[in-house]
This record gives sequence, C-alpha cells and structure tokens, in this order.
Amino acid sequence: MNLLEAQNLTKRFGGLAAVNDVSFAVPVSQWLGIIGPNGAGKSTLFSLLGGQTRPTSGTIRLAGEDVTRATPHQRFKNGLGRSFQITSLFAGLSIVDHVALAVRASHRRSLIRRSLADRGLRGDIQQVLSAWDLDGVASSALPSELSYGEQRRLELALAIASNPRLLLLDEPNVGLTSAECDDLLGRVRKVAHDVTVVFVAHDMEMVLGWSHRVLVMHFGEVIADESPEQLLHNEVVGEVYLGTRTGEDDAGTH
Ligand SMILES: Nc1ncnc2c1ncn2[C@@H]1O[C@H](COP(=O)(O)OP(=O)(O)OP(=O)(O)O)[C@@H](O)[C@H]1O
Ligand SMILES: [Mg+2]
Repeated sequence: MNLLEAQNLTKRFGGLAAVNDVSFAVPVSQWLGIIGPNGAGKSTLFSLLGGQTRPTSGTIRLAGEDVTRATPHQRFKNGLGRSFQITSLFAGLSIVDHVALAVRASHRRSLIRRSLADRGLRGDIQQVLSAWDLDGVASSALPSELSYGEQRRLELALAIASNPRLLLLDEPNVGLTSAECDDLLGRVRKVAHDVTVVFVAHDMEMVLGWSHRVLVMHFGEVIADESPEQLLHNEVVGEVYLGTRTGEDDAGTH
C-alpha cells in the first residue's frame, strides 16, 4: 500500500514552476530521499506535502485520503509528522513538558492509538527521553539549554512521540557531523521502525546510505526516481551534480 501519493503536482510562483508536474508514490515503511541542486524545488515540494503551501494543480493522497486542500493540522490527524524546529518550541516550557504534550497528542489520535493506556503518561515520557538519550537533562531544563545535537534529538523525539505514519524531514543533517546524523536517523529507525520517511538532504553519501529510493529534482522536475544503486550509474544525475547540464532555456540556443 502507498502511504503517500503525489500526482501531477505543480506549484507556480508567477511565471516560475518551482514544482512542475511531479508524481511519485511512497509505499508504507519506505525511506525516500530527495536531492537536487539549490532552487530545484525540494523545499517547495515539502511545503506542498506538509500543507503549508497549496499546489497550483495536482493531488496529494495520504493513506488513501485526498489531503490536497487539508490544513497541516488535518494532515497531522491523518498521520503526518514533521520535525519541530527548536525555534518553534515554547521558550518557557521545559523539555519534559514538551515531551508530555507530544505523548498526550498521540494518545488522542484514536486511529493509531497505542496500547499503552495502562502504563501511564509518566512511563511513556521516560521511555521517550531515554530512547533519545535525553534522560540526563534536568526535569526543569528548557530547550535553549540543550546542545545542538540534543536539540536535534528533541525535535525528532517530539515528532515521533506523536506516533506519525509519515515523517517529513527537511535537511535533518544540518549542523551535525555525519556520525551524529547516522546516530539520529538510526534512532528514528529503531524507535519508529515502520514509519515512512521522506527527507531532503544535500549530502549525497547520507542520502544514498539512508534511502530505499531517491528522487532527484532539477528545475522543478523529477529527473530520476530510483534506488541508490541505480543512481550511482545515472549519467544525467552525474551531469547535474558536476554542473555540466544547462537549463532548458539554454538548450539548443548556442
Ligand atoms: N514563496 C516563494 N515565492 C516565490 N518564489 C519562490 C518561493 N519559494 C521558492 N521560490 C522559488 O522556487 C524555486 C525553488 O525553490 P526551493 O526553495 O523549493 O528550492 P530548493 O530545492 O529547496 O533549494 P535549496 O537546496 O537551496 O534549499 C526557486 O527558484 C525559488 O526562488
Ligand atoms: Mg530548500
């Protein structure tokens, strides 16, 4: 079953098609990496999937349901998770209270309610903190008191504590060493082993290492949709990354 389906998605900004007729499907539990040069349309595609931006045309289905016009909150109720940037957290609310909110939200989401009712909130919170190696922080500590690596762990801990079916990660490796990033994604895989993940990253090695499938974007279009192994032998993609391919506008005019 496909958890996510994008069909003929287009987003125009004036005369520019930032996302141009993009179609793809992501089966349950697959990790899809999205790469492409600056300005390729990756973040715009993410905003369309997350519901922050409405497409000019095309449809998005989440778990079989058309969510093209749904708000981010409606998509959340349908199983969409996103990582909360540290800057979007409540400055005066402790880390433990943030985790408590996320755990409560997951209990409320009846469709995917976990069978943990008898274990109590406190146990769940402790379990989240220890799975993400955050159990060493003081119970009153605020997000701003965390190290950068701990902040990224908290962001993902909160996203996953709400028990999403689909997790969207925009450049999860930013600011982390590759070892820290591997640790972070390894925790995602361990804590939420059947979650479907769509992520954007510039680091080719990381994308190849963590994706079952890779979508390559260029000038708003998908120019490759294949396995990491196939991608290594894709000449067009190689040209895009070596910068020898010109834009459509230039083609044939010189
Ligand atoms: N809100 C907007 N209004 C107008 N143009 C936009 C808007 N958002 C993005 N664009 C344009 O759409 C194109 C795609 O941008 P987008 O940010 O999606 O690329 P990206 O692949 O995420 O790039 P990067 O790797 O630099 O993050 C760019 O030409 C950008 O200038
Ligand atoms: Mg971007």
